[in-house]
Amino acid sequence: MQAMSVLLSSNIPALGEPKVGKVREVYDLGEDLLIVATDRISAFDVIMPNGIPDKGRILNQMSCFWFMRLKPFVKNHMISVTDKDIFAAVGAHSPELSGRSMIVKKADPLPIECVARGYIAGSLFKEYKKGGGKIHGLDLPDGLQDGDRLPEPIYTPATKATEGHDENISFDQTVDLVGREVAEKARDLTLRLYTEATHHAEDAGLLLADTKFEFGIHNGELIWIDEALTPDSSRYWEKKDWKPGGAQPSFDKQYVRDFLENMDWDKTPPGPELPDDVVMNTRLKYVEAYERITGQRL
Ligand SMILES: Nc1ncnc2c1ncn2[C@@H]1O[C@H](COP(=O)(O)OP(=O)(O)OP(=O)(O)O)[C@@H](O)[C@H]1O
Ligand SMILES: [Mg+2]
Repeated sequence: MQAMSVLLSSNIPALGEPKVGKVREVYDLGEDLLIVATDRISAFDVIMPNGIPDKGRILNQMSCFWFMRLKPFVKNHMISVTDKDIFAAVGAHSPELSGRSMIVKKADPLPIECVARGYIAGSLFKEYKKGGGKIHGLDLPDGLQDGDRLPEPIYTPATKATEGHDENISFDQTVDLVGREVAEKARDLTLRLYTEATHHAEDAGLLLADTKFEFGIHNGELIWIDEALTPDSSRYWEKKDWKPGGAQPSFDKQYVRDFLENMDWDKTPPGPELPDDVVMNTRLKYVEAYERITGQRL
C-alpha cells in the first residue's frame, strides 16, 4: 500500500509564526484567525512522533458540521472552510491545507473551559473518589462508579491552564473570573449544546460522555469559538459497549492507549513511534466517527 500522507505541522511563511497547540496551529489574519488542524495525535498529553492520516481533515469537518447544526442555539466563530477562501487568506494555492483549515472571527476567549458531562469519568471521577459528591459545589449522588450515567447533565468548568492540566473549578469561581451574567450564559449554553448533541450522537449509536466548549466575546457578544464536539474535545463511547465500573474504551484513541500501556514508556515526552497497524486502525476509528456523526462519507 502506498504510504498515506500526513501533515505534522503547517508552514505558511506569509502569515508569520502560528500559535501552536498540541494538534492545531492558529495564524493571526488581523480581524480573523486561520485555524489549521494537523494530523498530530496526543495521548496522555504527549504528542506522538507520527500522525494519523486524515485526522486533521476529519476534526475540522466535524467541527464545521456541529457549528452549522447548532447555529440555532448560539452564534459561532466559523467564517469559511472553502479552498477558495483559505488559499486567498494564505495568498497561495496550498492543497496541503485543503479540508483541514477554517477561517474564524477573532474573539476574546473567556479564561474558562466550559465542560458538560452526562457521565462521570476522567478527572471528575478521580476527584469524586477522593472527595465525594460535594466537590466544586456539585451535588453528586453517592456510590457512583467510573463511567456511570449522571442523573442529569452537569456543568463542570475548568481553568484554562497555560501549562499542565486544566483544573476543575466551581461555578462560583467562574463568576469571579468572568462576571455573573457571562458565567450564567456560558453555563446555560454549555448544557444546551451538550444536550442537543447527545441526542444526535445517540441516534448514531454513540454516547457523548462529556465535552468541552470555549466561548469568547466578539463585538460585545458571547460566541462559541475553538472546536466543536470533536473527538479531541469530547469523550465519545460506543453505546452498545458501555459498561460502568471501570474506564470505558475510548472510541478514537483506544488502539493508541492499548499500545502505549503495553510497552515500557513512562508517559513523558518523547512519545514512542506508533506502529503502522495502530496508525491505520486509529485512522479507521476517526473515519467511522466522522461518518456516523455527519452521515457523510469522508
Ligand atoms: N475564534 C477565536 N478567537 C480567539 N481565540 C480562539 C478562537 N478560537 C480558538 N481560539 C484559541 O485558539 C487556541 C487553539 O489552540 P489549541 O486548542 O490548538 O491549543 P491549546 O488550547 O493551547 O492547547 P491544547 O492543544 O491542549 O488544546 C486556544 O487558545 C483557543 O482559546
Ligand atoms: Mg485547546
